[in-house]
Amino acid sequence: MRKTILSGLVAGTLLVLLLGAIGARLGVVAAPPRPDGPWMWVATRAAGVTALLALTLDVALGLVLSTGVLDAWLARARSLELHRTLSATALALTAGHVLVLLLDPFIRYDALDVAVPGMSSYRPWAVAAGIGAAYLALVIHVSFGLRARIGARWWRRLHYGSFAVLVGALGHGIAAGSDTGRTGMQVLYVILAGVVGALVALRAVLAVGAAPATEP
Ligand code: HEM
Repeated sequence: MRKTILSGLVAGTLLVLLLGAIGARLGVVAAPPRPDGPWMWVATRAAGVTALLALTLDVALGLVLSTGVLDAWLARARSLELHRTLSATALALTAGHVLVLLLDPFIRYDALDVAVPGMSSYRPWAVAAGIGAAYLALVIHVSFGLRARIGARWWRRLHYGSFAVLVGALGHGIAAGSDTGRTGMQVLYVILAGVVGALVALRAVLAVGAAPATEP
């Protein structure tokens, strides 16, 4: 019941934002006022970087879980719950990243700019990568609750889309971010990509080791 009310509220708010954006573009309603100063720009970047951290942590946890090494310390149900919570956290931070952008007086985005890939006047392809990654992350998150309905095999296939989400989000951050020129951000991007790359390699090595021996 609570879930239905929340979904209705979210859908209603999105509809109002989209209709408001269309109305403002047609000149039927006035564009909303935006607060002055650089604070929204600072806040959206902070939320974007934190969303990327949560996303990377979530993908890394998924990879570690798939090796089974955590099973000795943490019950499967709890580690899966943690995985799901991290996914929700990354999505919530992404929503914050986007909603704050709507208030930014410099970029002057409306709901269509942030919902439709390619409509942004600022680095359209780089921003489209972020929008695509966010949509896919939402589909994968929703699929957590649909595993029984869609079956484990399809659920796992869909779950592999997490790599595309991470690659899209990393590419988006690097290409769209105004902090990419800073050494600190470059080091962060290399560390995040390096950690996930190393875990993928470890997972592949363990999978080869566990594969049944084939006839020579
Ligand atoms: C998976 C979802 C997303 C993640 C993890 C993410 C992450 C990031 C990161 C790390 C940056 C760079 C911040 C910096 O350089 O300080 C960034 C910048 C940006 N993102 Fe996203 N983003 C996501 C989705 C979106 C979406 C859906 C939009 C929709 C418009 C968007 C719009 C922007 C814009 C305009 C910038 C440039 C801000 C700047 O100058 O740094 N992002 N994002």
